[in-house]
Amino acid sequence: MRPVSFTVDPGAYDSYMGRYSLLLAPQLADLATVSAGQRVLDVGCGPGALTAELVKRLGAAAVSAVDPSEPFVAAVEQRHPGVDVRQAAAEQLPFEDAEFDATLAQLVVLLMEDPTTGVAEMMRVTRKRGVVAASVWDYAGGRGPVSMLWDAARELDPDVADESHLAGVREGHLAELFDAAGLEEIEEATHSICVEHSSFEEWWEPFTLGVGPAGGYAAGLDAKRQAELRELCREMLPAAPFIPTAQAWAARGLV
Ligand SMILES: C[S@@+](CC[C@H](N)C(=O)[O-])C[C@H]1O[C@@H](n2cnc3c(N)ncnc32)[C@H](O)[C@@H]1O
Repeated sequence: MRPVSFTVDPGAYDSYMGRYSLLLAPQLADLATVSAGQRVLDVGCGPGALTAELVKRLGAAAVSAVDPSEPFVAAVEQRHPGVDVRQAAAEQLPFEDAEFDATLAQLVVLLMEDPTTGVAEMMRVTRKRGVVAASVWDYAGGRGPVSMLWDAARELDPDVADESHLAGVREGHLAELFDAAGLEEIEEATHSICVEHSSFEEWWEPFTLGVGPAGGYAAGLDAKRQAELRELCREMLPAAPFIPTAQAWAARGLV
């Protein structure tokens, strides 16, 4: 798989993935039973789609967030003053044991270098009987919001390294990771969203910004291949406006 870039302009992330992840955030916060009085951690916060939901429910002072991407950490500091934001990866969280009532990771487990260690770290920083929760798009089932891009890419290059083999993207895999980490009372859920796209260009343009695996793939093609990919996507998508549904696998467990 080519290197994945999240060292990008937060606005580019918002238009590429944030437009979808904003809608998932309340669903993951509900699954994790985030409610007033708790202290929570957002792992792989990006520019703050889930952080915003946590701040809305708990207030900024009760929310901590980490991400390895420097521009995303800066964006969360600026967008959510009072949140304790740090530049760090899930595999090495800069917190003491049992600091949080709940630790959440939205659309992150698939990108962890070592998901087993990442989930174990999320568990370590969560108190006994606290909640660890995560969600990941159903890329194995082709139901992520950028799966259509990968469908077209596979038509042009059957060997393309898409996101369908990554951690957590197939049914049951998040629960398997949670179980292996020793989490208890694991519950699984599916989360879904619909986003209206007013034109093909409005759907396509964010892929050219080089964000994440699919954006990195599209932006890394030479001009001729990128134009072929764009035109194949245009043929495969319904006429605009179109409202695709996307689905994510989610799981929560107790420490
Ligand atoms: C698809 S974005 C999700 C961002 C945000 N949670 C959301 O829902 O919009 C994935 C995020 O995971 C971060 N990330 C990548 N590897 C990570 C790791 N090992 N630990 C924590 N975060 C990581 C990336 O920098 C990026 O911000």
